[in-house]
Amino acid sequence: MGENAAHSGIQKDLELTVRELSDTYEELSLLYKLSEVLSGMSVDEIAEKVVEEAVDTLDVKTAAILFLDEENERLVTKSFRGRWNKDTTIHKDDRIIWNAVSERKPVAFCKLSDAGHADYTHAEGSILVCPLVGKIRVIGAMVLADRESNAEFYSNDIKLMMAIASQAAITVENALLYKELEDFLLAAIKSLVKALEASSRWTAGHTERVTEYAIGIGSAMGLGVKHLERLRICSLLHDIGKIAVPREILDKAGRLTEDEEKVVRRHPLIGVEILGGFRQLQDVILGIKYHHEWWDGGHSLLGLKGEDIPLMARILTVADCFDAMSSDRPYRRRKARDETLKEIISLSGKQFDPEVVEAFKQWLTQQHPVSAP
Ligand SMILES: [Fe+2]
Ligand SMILES: [Fe+2]
Repeated sequence: MGENAAHSGIQKDLELTVRELSDTYEELSLLYKLSEVLSGMSVDEIAEKVVEEAVDTLDVKTAAILFLDEENERLVTKSFRGRWNKDTTIHKDDRIIWNAVSERKPVAFCKLSDAGHADYTHAEGSILVCPLVGKIRVIGAMVLADRESNAEFYSNDIKLMMAIASQAAITVENALLYKELEDFLLAAIKSLVKALEASSRWTAGHTERVTEYAIGIGSAMGLGVKHLERLRICSLLHDIGKIAVPREILDKAGRLTEDEEKVVRRHPLIGVEILGGFRQLQDVILGIKYHHEWWDGGHSLLGLKGEDIPLMARILTVADCFDAMSSDRPYRRRKARDETLKEIISLSGKQFDPEVVEAFKQWLTQQHPVSAP
């Protein structure tokens, strides 16, 4: 072999290596960006984003994400672009898509019309199906069809799409697991609240109303969905420490003695003790701990004041006091709603955070536009 031929061989090898490196770099940076974007999204948002990304990356006219419905042995359309019917479901007898899912391997055809497939897309050109396989279970499949240039899918495309599919599957799986955990946590919390409400007839319904008021205030203050969810949990659990307060004190028909008062005043700290083992609830626990603090520090149980009191606790205390004042108690009749609101407003800047009182006033006025001041 002459020197020139050898050089041109080396040059070709180098060019090939550079191209491969460049492709790999692009793939890795796409995957990295995608993993950043997908984390924190809901399952629906993930499905939408992955379809969009696949269409842009491979220049296909049609793309769909299907989720496995194990119980009914079928795949259901979750998101799509192009020539795809939104109600499309793929049953077990489908040879292309279902095979990719059950074999956990990608399937590609140059001409869909030659593949003898079920009639789920009008696409006639190439088709690529990548299974969405998570760490624990199969999530579904990603279908890409009809490239803009009429080109087929090459091995590089398949490799890249399989990487995207696996990234998407793991993120969806995590989101589903997280949702299941959250549902489990919420069910456990509701059982705790039931146990509390059963312990005294005066607390029945209190938790539910306080939660409604607190969420009303949070929405009026513009809190995001995640923050509102934490506030809901905090409100549901705020008086859980009262489980340890003897029933005769909770149900006492007259004023409490000083000693009895002391027992009741311990309930935020008992709540902290009960829930302390929930590492996932640390912010909620702080809200519970400080829900009887005063904005000006005047009668704070634990010595906090102003913005040192967590926001959840500042919201909770307004919701809590409003409900306590506007409900019957063993030792006094309830006050009318308007009168209670006036009293809350008169304590703005003393017992309550003025911003929270303002939000509560706004929310309550929207709920009952005629009579609120
Ligand atoms: Fe309380
Ligand atoms: Fe309460």
